[in-house]
Amino acid sequence: MPIEWNDGIALGIDVIDQEHMALVSLMNQVSEMLEGSAEFESLAKVIQQLEEYCDLHFAHEEDLMRKANYDGLAAHITSHRRFTTQVNEFSQQFKESAHNVDLQALHFLIEDWLVNHIQKTDRDYLPAVKPYIKAHGPKLAGL
Ligand SMILES: [Fe+2]
Repeated sequence: MPIEWNDGIALGIDVIDQEHMALVSLMNQVSEMLEGSAEFESLAKVIQQLEEYCDLHFAHEEDLMRKANYDGLAAHITSHRRFTTQVNEFSQQFKESAHNVDLQALHFLIEDWLVNHIQKTDRDYLPAVKPYIKAHGPKLAGL
């Protein structure tokens, strides 16, 4: 079942929310593949975009947390690295054979990330990051 983006998921930081939205879209594409309504070949694109997401979006969040002197930074980075490692494992499986990829497991990975990281762990940095953006403006905050 595809998940619709809603304000309950949003953190209230436009750029970060747009990136999170892109992840929800990738998860929904995997969901479509599971239902057989998408080409399996498009999995290559989804996996590539997931890897790009990890590189760009996590760098973005980590930069923001660092600038805001967020005290949970180290633990948050560990969580990002763990997710990146799991995405890389799917990418490796795909390179060996597209049919090695367990779509259900890939979907679960992203869904679990949405529920337990984006809707929980990411919210923890808001009390540090939001005042930083307010004080410095989005441009100086790198947004
Ligand atoms: Fe995060």
